[in-house]
Amino acid sequence: MNEVTFALVTGGTSGIGWECARILAGGKRNILLVSNQEEELIKCKAILEQEYTVQVITHFQDLSLPTSAEELYRFCLDNKLEIEVLVNNAGFFFFSEVVQVPVERASRMINLHVHTTALLCMLIGRHMKERGRGYVMNVASIASYKDFPGIAFYAATKKFIRGFSRAMHAEMKYYGVHVTALCPGATATNLYDPNVIDVKKGMRWGIMMTGNDVAKAGLRGMFKNKPVVIPGFLTKIMLIFAILTPHWLIYMVRVKWRHFFDQPSVK
Ligand SMILES: NC(=O)c1ccc[n+]([C@@H]2O[C@H](COP(=O)([O-])OP(=O)(O)OC[C@H]3O[C@@H](n4cnc5c(N)ncnc54)[C@H](OP(=O)(O)O)[C@@H]3O)[C@@H](O)[C@H]2O)c1
Repeated sequence: MNEVTFALVTGGTSGIGWECARILAGGKRNILLVSNQEEELIKCKAILEQEYTVQVITHFQDLSLPTSAEELYRFCLDNKLEIEVLVNNAGFFFFSEVVQVPVERASRMINLHVHTTALLCMLIGRHMKERGRGYVMNVASIASYKDFPGIAFYAATKKFIRGFSRAMHAEMKYYGVHVTALCPGATATNLYDPNVIDVKKGMRWGIMMTGNDVAKAGLRGMFKNKPVVIPGFLTKIMLIFAILTPHWLIYMVRVKWRHFFDQPSVK
């Protein structure tokens, strides 16, 4: 089979998405890089084309709108781009009480993490099923395992991604299509508001992984057809602690550090 196929990476111009794009390009896969960072798309394309002899197509798009998935799918159809690997990575994060979040911001998060992710899986997954081959990695989070106050929108939308991916994994395995949920712990990227979380300190203290290590673990798991990947030993330990932490304790911490949750992050 000599057809030209692409690996589509959303939010592929920074952090974990960028590392995924580099690893996939290193594996001689053509890349369709999608992001809402216009200048970075140009820079990333130049780097990928220079470092790896693959075709790189960039597409500037805000993926947090209700029509985003269908528009991106239409872009692939119009340009005859057959997607063999789909990495639903684009995401954002904020701390805030539910009642303090502006409606537009909450809608954007639900659209990006839930609506766009699910519809891209559905629309592109159909082609993968027909071809009897394909790989999907949806980036969730270990936050998806616990209902923490202050990140209700983030944790709940990531819980959707994890559950949806696991169910789709069981559906698509039969057709030769791999679907994996990647659940990273704290990772040193631009995701966090630097006024709230100091990524450099996190790296120095050894509690944050690099985007490259997370991307490597996720893609390795996806190619091996793992339903869920939790990268890193420390992340697994943190996850066990999070699952075992009773809700009364979470409530007490929330009351004691109320000021932390009451300052919505600006990023
Ligand atoms: N870093 C962590 O500790 C951590 C832990 C668990 C899970 N994750 C997940 O990992 C994924 C990647 O995040 P990251 O840590 O690599 O952070 P990042 O460097 O900020 O990457 C996120 C990417 O998604 C893009 N994006 C955000 N909103 C978008 C939109 N509406 N349309 C198109 N692109 C959009 C971002 O662009 P802009 O910056 O322009 O918005 C950025 O390129 C996210 O889904 C995140 O939730 C991260």
